Amino acid sequence: MQIPMVRLALGDAEVEAASRVIRSGWVAQGPEVAAFEREFAAAVGASFAVAVSNCTVALELCLRVAGVRPGDDVATVSHSFIATANAVVAVGARPIFVDVQPDTYNMDPAALARAITPRTRAILCVHQIGFPCDLPAILAIARPRGLPVIEDAACAIGSEIRIDGDWQRIGRPHGRLACFSFHPRKLVTTGDGGMITTADPSLAERLRLLRQHAMLVPSTARHESRSVTLESFSEPAFNFRMTDLQAAVGRPQLARLAAIIAERRALAARYNETLADHPLLAPPTEPAWLRSNWQSYPVTLRPGGRMSQIEIMQLLLDRGVASRRGIGNAHAEPAYAKAAWSCGQEPCDLAAHAAGRCLRLPVSEHARDNTILLPLFHGMSPAEQDFVVATLRALPG
Ligand SMILES: Cc1ncc(COP(=O)(O)O)c(C=O)c1O
Repeated sequence: MQIPMVRLALGDAEVEAASRVIRSGWVAQGPEVAAFEREFAAAVGASFAVAVSNCTVALELCLRVAGVRPGDDVATVSHSFIATANAVVAVGARPIFVDVQPDTYNMDPAALARAITPRTRAILCVHQIGFPCDLPAILAIARPRGLPVIEDAACAIGSEIRIDGDWQRIGRPHGRLACFSFHPRKLVTTGDGGMITTADPSLAERLRLLRQHAMLVPSTARHESRSVTLESFSEPAFNFRMTDLQAAVGRPQLARLAAIIAERRALAARYNETLADHPLLAPPTEPAWLRSNWQSYPVTLRPGGRMSQIEIMQLLLDRGVASRRGIGNAHAEPAYAKAAWSCGQEPCDLAAHAAGRCLRLPVSEHARDNTILLPLFHGMSPAEQDFVVATLRALPG
């Protein structure tokens, strides 16, 4: 048996949706994108949703509309997919990397408070692998300082956080803006694709303008017009559009979201139960104040085990089970060996920084080196999950 990290669960509904768009004669951004935006906003409880090409450009656009300029600092995490840090660099700002909490893999609010510099212009927090970050604590640091919070919710569609006794979906958003991804590793996929949510109508309007070259009359309006309509562009901007083909494929999945999440939660509960006493690997703990959508299922190496992370992953691969190393650390990647970044506590150990390590990001580095992501996807059969568990049980421990 071969178990991948993810197997696409797309079927007749998505084929029908794509065919409908192809037959319609309009495949670029149009009515399907508008409908997907409305349905997405309703699904996460947001006032406005704006579709874009992917989550990386969503983050970049949000930093821009939040007022981040070249030379500013943005407090974020290194422990994320590298797109988070890259979005900060793309707008000419400097990422200030904040360490994470060991149970949620997310920004540690106490470390955030220490990392604010006089040049900090925004906070970019992440809901890593579907685990919400501690938004109330992060907002309590941001609000008195007037700092906008942008949520990287790439992996967090359908994840929930309990605030004042009330379960709330990630994406309302709780900060100023939240960004989602539709990459195939996510719960809803459009191949590539992204969505931004906000409660602010003027921000939504600005995002819609900038994603389409700041074109004052959208192409759909020109297409329908019975009189000659000339293009006009109000400022230099971008092509960050999603296509109707992509949006149409996303819509039936969004309609199934509740069932997708229920299935993934059941799979995670089964892993938790069957791996509770594993000698080498500890299952994750989900704090009582959050509900993950289980975009990924992380296990942690128990201290003193006889096998390394890479040895375990290789043995799994040899036996037909895919896995991934824990989330990377941007600060340790070659891309950031020369790029300007800081851990917010200067002077730090520059020799350690040059070697891709940081004394002030020990939890991030530990999580990367001691976590393994196991296969968990909706559509995974009980036999497949049993095979993963049996393979883990057979590890020489
Ligand atoms: C935390 C995080 N942020 C950003 C991204 C970038 O998303 P996209 O591939 O849609 O650009 C990803 C992608 O996996 C991610 O995991």
